[in-house]
Amino acid sequence: MTIIVTGGAGFIGSNFVYHMLAVHPDHKIVCLDKLTYAGNLSTLEKAVKNPRFRFVKADICDRRAVFELFEEEKPDIVVNFAAESHVDRSIDDPSVFLQTNIIGTATLMDACREYGVSRFHQVSTDEVYGDLPLDRPDLFFTESTPLHTSSPYSSSKASADLLALAYHRTYGLPVTISRCSNNYGPYHFPEKLIPLMIVNALNDKPLPVYGDGKNVRDWLYVEDHCKAIDLIIHRGRAGEVYNVGGHNEMANIDIVKLICKILGKPESLITFVGDRKGHDRRYAIDPSKIHSELGWLPETKFSDGIVKTVEWYLENRKWWETIISGEYRDYYKKMYGDR
Ligand code: NAD
Ligand code: TYD
Repeated sequence: MTIIVTGGAGFIGSNFVYHMLAVHPDHKIVCLDKLTYAGNLSTLEKAVKNPRFRFVKADICDRRAVFELFEEEKPDIVVNFAAESHVDRSIDDPSVFLQTNIIGTATLMDACREYGVSRFHQVSTDEVYGDLPLDRPDLFFTESTPLHTSSPYSSSKASADLLALAYHRTYGLPVTISRCSNNYGPYHFPEKLIPLMIVNALNDKPLPVYGDGKNVRDWLYVEDHCKAIDLIIHRGRAGEVYNVGGHNEMANIDIVKLICKILGKPESLITFVGDRKGHDRRYAIDPSKIHSELGWLPETKFSDGIVKTVEWYLENRKWWETIISGEYRDYYKKMYGDR
């Protein structure tokens, strides 16, 4: 079986590549990635040595390149991780989000129709549901919660979801969608909350918490997300959406304090900065559908996963030091300079 994994040089995509190579010895994995600022070939260093792995540098919006790859590989399954994924960047400039997240997804699905894949899986996000109030801990996102997006990022992801469902209904394309909560773990780009706080704390730099720090996210260890997608692409029902989350809600400020504690750094590094525009208050997933239909449950407790993650950043300094020495510097100055 051949699986095309787009965006496999990014955070979740690379973890998925490693997961699939490890647990499916009969699968060939072809990674298609544009290598934007968020994609790193060094992340896939160990996969590149595997004869069942192929890397192709291309843009999912490039119709010719995408169709050529499908012609060569005749994939059975396509899993689309490729996306612009950072909310703050989407607020700064939405255009590339619309291009990659919407047009890119449509281009991939056109190739899937042409070459008759048995499954196109769209990796989506709980952010398509908008947010929940902090004072209603009884409310959760289910698959039938209306889409109600807040940022250009989440709007572009919701658009892609709607297109995927339309391709299923109109053309009969065997599509599945997963909507996952916030992931954390190895190879997470240090513009996102958890890796940014680890990297800044290690460098004794301020830890910039947006607003009052009380916004809540529902954190899932990346390996658990990969296992959920693996189950959905092999056993999920076409045309269905599956919510993925670990019932692990935490306020941002508590995460940052925990990281300080694990690293033995003072909480005085914490600096409250201007809030994100349109900042979603709370995300919380109800994962009962994927549990009852496919038997999925998260396996890594947050208390273990966060320690493993901090250890990974301690052991892989070269990976993130290279990243924060490049374009990231200008990004950091622009986003946090006078916040
Ligand atoms: P990431 O930003 O770390 O990686 C994105 C990857 O896509 C990079 O390798 C990049 O080079 C590649 N890419 C970007 N534009 C491309 C294009 N036009 N053509 C080909 N490749 C391109 O993202 P991530 O955090 O790994 O997220 C992966 C997917 O999961 C995204 O679709 C995101 O919306 C979704 N998601 C992420 C989270 C999270 O917590 N990170 C949670 C739920 C869903
Ligand atoms: P992020 O990792 O960008 O994920 P998302 O916005 O997709 O949930 O942010 C997680 C939370 O952390 C979010 O509420 C914004 C907040 N945050 C900060 O307080 N400071 C930061 O420097 C960053 C990047 C995020």
